[in-house]
Amino acid sequence: MRFTDKVCIVTGAAQGLGKAMAERLASEGGRMILADINAEALDRTVEEFRAAGYEAEPYVIDLTKVDEIDRMIDSTVDTHGRLDVLVNNAGVQIRKWATDFPEEEYDFLMDLNLKAYYFATRAAARHFKKQGGGVVVCTSSGNSARPTSKRTPYAISKAGVNALVAALGNEMGRFGIRVNAVAPGYVMTDMVKKGIEEGIIDVDAIMSILPNKRFLEASEIAAGVAFLASDDASGITGQTLFIDGGWTANGLPEAKDLD
Ligand SMILES: NC(=O)c1ccc[n+]([C@@H]2O[C@H](COP(=O)([O-])OP(=O)(O)OC[C@H]3O[C@@H](n4cnc5c(N)ncnc54)[C@H](O)[C@@H]3O)[C@@H](O)[C@H]2O)c1
Repeated sequence: MRFTDKVCIVTGAAQGLGKAMAERLASEGGRMILADINAEALDRTVEEFRAAGYEAEPYVIDLTKVDEIDRMIDSTVDTHGRLDVLVNNAGVQIRKWATDFPEEEYDFLMDLNLKAYYFATRAAARHFKKQGGGVVVCTSSGNSARPTSKRTPYAISKAGVNALVAALGNEMGRFGIRVNAVAPGYVMTDMVKKGIEEGIIDVDAIMSILPNKRFLEASEIAAGVAFLASDDASGITGQTLFIDGGWTANGLPEAKDLD
């Protein structure tokens, strides 16, 4: 119960990895604010959480709008008296050749995957400073270290997340604020399902490279987030923890019949 009475915001929490992260924090006593743009999915998830006995409330937000981010953080502190954990997780992957990538889609992806993480951390840190501390965990990706074709802006945004946690971890350490990231490998969420449907994610090709030869469970990513958000990680800041089944440590595919 590492998060008893801790007020925690998770973005992109209506489904997928964010939902699993919020569930893990809630199961350890966290008072959860689940933030997402998808109001319907969010309501379903909050209902599920409450049925399980967790403390959870929905917050509908478009994270590409900085004024909405500021309002979310301020209203959380007004309502709950504090904020302890911010998980910047919402993100999108748009798959197109770099030569065909429209400027407005590039801007949208960067606004959600990177700019929102910066400004949510900025808003949270203003309160953390007054409180004497707080924790931020961001969702990066294996793509931050191993880019794949048709995902160039995504890879840039996620490498930016790794730089963001290093830079902010450094700057904010003196205020008792820790900033880290998890970099997931492949988890079968809607994001990955869509990539398979589009023919851009080739499951056989991925499995030939992945040392553990399987998709990860969302709960395996959530376990890393809970670790980094907890006092168990009190000595860790500025780091990106790769939870990727060995993907980014691997080199080229090996012979199929290797003994
Ligand atoms: N699934 C994977 O294998 C994988 C691997 C590496 C990194 N990631 C990262 O994990 C994070 C979560 O991905 P996922 O796989 O759970 O995806 P997902 O598409 O299942 O979930 C994303 C969530 O973000 C919400 N969202 C989208 N736009 C928003 C906006 N403007 N404002 C607020 N919320 C918004 C969606 O409604 C959704 O609930 C992303 O940052 C993604 O890049 C995922």
